[in-house]
Amino acid sequence: MGTMNFLAISGSLRAASHNSALLRALARLAPAGMHIELYCGLGDLPLFNPDIEASDPAPVADLRTRIMAADALLIASPEYAHGITGAMKNALDWMVGCEAFVLKPVALLNASPRAVHAQASIREIVTMMSALIVDEASVTVPILGAKLSEDQIVAHPEISVTLRASLAALSDAVADSRAERR
Ligand SMILES: Cc1cc2nc3c(=O)[nH]c(=O)nc-3n(C[C@H](O)[C@H](O)[C@H](O)COP(=O)(O)O)c2cc1C
Repeated sequence: MGTMNFLAISGSLRAASHNSALLRALARLAPAGMHIELYCGLGDLPLFNPDIEASDPAPVADLRTRIMAADALLIASPEYAHGITGAMKNALDWMVGCEAFVLKPVALLNASPRAVHAQASIREIVTMMSALIVDEASVTVPILGAKLSEDQIVAHPEISVTLRASLAALSDAVADSRAERR
């Protein structure tokens, strides 16, 4: 089947972000044959403006190329004021006008059971962008409340099992979509 390459996008720009820690932990929990890269350019994207879309700013082209090259996406965004972060919405707005999300398998990770509004919002946006949300891979894990670090997530007896199962479900969805294209 070959290697699977997943791109992980955190909606937080904070160095000590729990959402980014969750995605880095997922990268460490990935089985052999699965590579997860954490996208670090969210803060470099200009504010979305249709007037500069045709000029294709370099950070936007870079994100689009990475998404298109990925077999699947892992997305985790904090909830700010009952929505996703402005940084995440900005990145998604840049990707609406291209085909990057179309039929792309996506796992929506949620680091806080309290963050129901952000999770519902990103589900709506990504669905509108014609991505394939993989429900079995879209899990909520209590990282924020327990303030778990990347190491603690990887070592956690229950959360690590949930996250490995999420990756397996995403991997199955990618295999299914590859088989359908054949
Ligand atoms: C401006 C702001 C608004 C927030 N609004 C909410 C909210 O509506 N609901 C919620 O559950 N948490 C809210 N929080 C808490 C964040 O989700 C929490 O700080 C989280 O750790 C941020 O994610 P990060 O650790 O990945 O940066 C808010 C935090 C900030 C800074």
